[in-house]
Amino acid sequence: MIPLLDLAQRQHGWLPISAMHAVADVLKLPKMRVYEVATFYTMFMRKPVGKYHVQVCTTTPCWLRGSDDIMSCIKKKLNIEVGETSKDKMFTLSEVECLGACVNAPMIQVNDDYYEDLTAKDTEEILEDLKCGKKPKPGPRSGRFASEPAGGLTSLTEEPTGPGFKVQPDL
Ligand code: FES
Repeated sequence: MIPLLDLAQRQHGWLPISAMHAVADVLKLPKMRVYEVATFYTMFMRKPVGKYHVQVCTTTPCWLRGSDDIMSCIKKKLNIEVGETSKDKMFTLSEVECLGACVNAPMIQVNDDYYEDLTAKDTEEILEDLKCGKKPKPGPRSGRFASEPAGGLTSLTEEPTGPGFKVQPDL
């Protein structure tokens, strides 16, 4: 059901009740079963959203790393509050719980992409690019490739030893 609901949402840009009914028909399930799933998962949008759905994580690791700054920068730049859509229908702002990228906190999700290791300046640049129709490069903004230590490797710094390393000689 979840892949079908996701497909329906991608077709419409959000998940109207008629799409939920169509999913119930395809799966030959009571409509209530579909409502239960669609209302449980927050990634299903039951109201229209802007072209870019900006989700700001404000859970503890992101909060400790400055998600308040990221949130106020977005509110100011887009002139909207959480739950609102900009007048031009380009951006909808949501506040969300942990998106599973805490090692790269603070972070936001825009549609399917994660933007990580953010500063307020990075966030402004991302929004500016989106406004101009450009696609900013997803991922960390700190120069990291992924979630490796920011100060360089602290383990696994030598060539791996071969088979038999530290095995008793009589084995
Ligand atoms: S707390 Fe923000 S991604 Fe986990």
